[in-house]
Amino acid sequence: MGEITTLEWKEGELVLLDQTILPNKVAYVVCKNLEDVYRAIQTMIVRGAPAIGVAAGYGMVLAAHAYKGEKGDSFFRYMKEKGEYLKSSRPTAINLMWAVDRILEKMEKRRELSLEDLKREVESEAVAIHEEDKLTNRSIGEKLLRLLKDGDTVLTHCNAGGLATSGYGTALSVFYMAQEKGMKIKAFADETRPRLQGANLTAFELAQHGVDVTLICDNMAALVMSQGKIDAVIVGCDRVASNGDTANKVGTYGVSVLAKYFHIPFYVASPISTIDMECAAGSEIPIEERSWDEVLCIHGEYIAPREIKTYNPSFDVTPAENITAIVTEKGIVYPPFCDNLKMIMGK
Ligand code: MRU
Repeated sequence: MGEITTLEWKEGELVLLDQTILPNKVAYVVCKNLEDVYRAIQTMIVRGAPAIGVAAGYGMVLAAHAYKGEKGDSFFRYMKEKGEYLKSSRPTAINLMWAVDRILEKMEKRRELSLEDLKREVESEAVAIHEEDKLTNRSIGEKLLRLLKDGDTVLTHCNAGGLATSGYGTALSVFYMAQEKGMKIKAFADETRPRLQGANLTAFELAQHGVDVTLICDNMAALVMSQGKIDAVIVGCDRVASNGDTANKVGTYGVSVLAKYFHIPFYVASPISTIDMECAAGSEIPIEERSWDEVLCIHGEYIAPREIKTYNPSFDVTPAENITAIVTEKGIVYPPFCDNLKMIMGK
């Protein structure tokens, strides 16, 4: 998507756009081994659930290529261990676990292969995850567009765009699909404290692609909704429980409460890989807590007394009853989510 590539597998290395320094600098970080990928996910050089999943897939490839031991069980044990390590880099986005497990399952199915062929199999599965993500983005965008009309304005929170995926993004795909189809959909982007993904990433990527985007501070959402400026809210997600409760960037829950109050449809854009049918409800989703400095500082400068206490949950859970529909690549899922997610997941 566009000139800036979020993530690229190039000559046996993973090249990542460094999202910690956008929008002021565009620079890339090269991951040469599994530890590099772990650090890139943990420090949010790469972020956004699908992009984390794709990076994890390539992390497994780097781990496989580094293996110099015997073929057979010890390789499988080694890969499982490396997978567990990678999964511990961030807890909330299920795409990370999903990608690692998908690769391990593929290996299991091809147990009879030689060590070298197994390594090749790991690589082709990682590439497949990457390629499928691009198609998923487009398919979600098409479906989201059906829910809107030309000229609508959509509020979004955090960044669920090309920077969070391999293609058009999930929530933001609707703006790019609209452009392709000659429709005009405008965006309002919440700045998304503490890490400012809305300001640094969403405003950046939408503006780069010529989308009409207005940046607001998080505390302005109620006002703009009350002024009738917003026709729909579309957000991405990090994990959807089987009852429809949805974890996404902290602040999403509040936006959903406002949308319900103002009778504005609230849509969650979710790849199938982000739906966790093993998870019964939002209360079971592990919520990452990040460091105090994200709250206390902006770009390295203290914005509050240094000794003040902080609390920094990185995600919150939007209850299913606040969600109008969950839009997946396989179709639009309406309530009751318990039954309808089961149907779409074939479980
Ligand atoms: O902490 P981040 O930046 O990884 O959080 C990202 C989000 O919450 C996104 O909305 C979500 O991962 C969906 S990305 C398509």
